[in-house]
Amino acid sequence: MKKIGLFYGPLGGSTERVAKKVAATLGVENVDLIHAKDAKTADVEKYENVIFGLSTIGTETWESDKSANDWDIFLPEVEKVDYSNKVIAMFGLGDQITYDLHFVDSLGILAEKILPKGANIIGRVNPEGYDFRESMAIIEGEFIGLPVNEDFEPELTDERVKNWVAKIKTQLK
Ligand SMILES: Cc1cc2nc3c(=O)[nH]c(=O)nc-3n(C[C@H](O)[C@H](O)[C@H](O)COP(=O)(O)O)c2cc1C
Repeated sequence: MKKIGLFYGPLGGSTERVAKKVAATLGVENVDLIHAKDAKTADVEKYENVIFGLSTIGTETWESDKSANDWDIFLPEVEKVDYSNKVIAMFGLGDQITYDLHFVDSLGILAEKILPKGANIIGRVNPEGYDFRESMAIIEGEFIGLPVNEDFEPELTDERVKNWVAKIKTQLK
């Protein structure tokens, strides 16, 4: 397997913890862990295998407070990448108990930016097992990446990560 660039943010919370879990499960020797806020288009272009990790802090917050989220800094870089020769996987931190109408929306927002650029997004997840009402991350009936809820379902995270990594591992380059 070629080296994986795992770009994640924000730092210091659940997203970082899960990013490290994903890397450990893939084998740390296979993964470069990179802070999204410091990364540029060229950093993403170096990798044929790319994983994006992010949290949802609410679409309104995302759109109105441009300094609040590492991904506001990174997203314009991500949008410039040519994805035609890449395999992409994504995981998203969220909470479907408190935000059941916007569960892991950021995954969907990100996907909408990169799918038109030819991104082959692997690691889609069946929504059964997640009790939510609406999510922008549902594309063609599936979550476009792995949703993780560290706020209310932390006991499920290890199993979710393990199953998801087993699935994407067979499809990475
Ligand atoms: C102000 C605020 C808004 C949030 N909005 C959403 C939301 O719209 N959808 C969702 O799934 N989770 C939402 N969450 C939950 C976070 O995504 C969740 O707590 C996540 O684990 C935070 O990751 P972090 O510790 O890396 O920042 C929100 C949390 C906060 C504090």
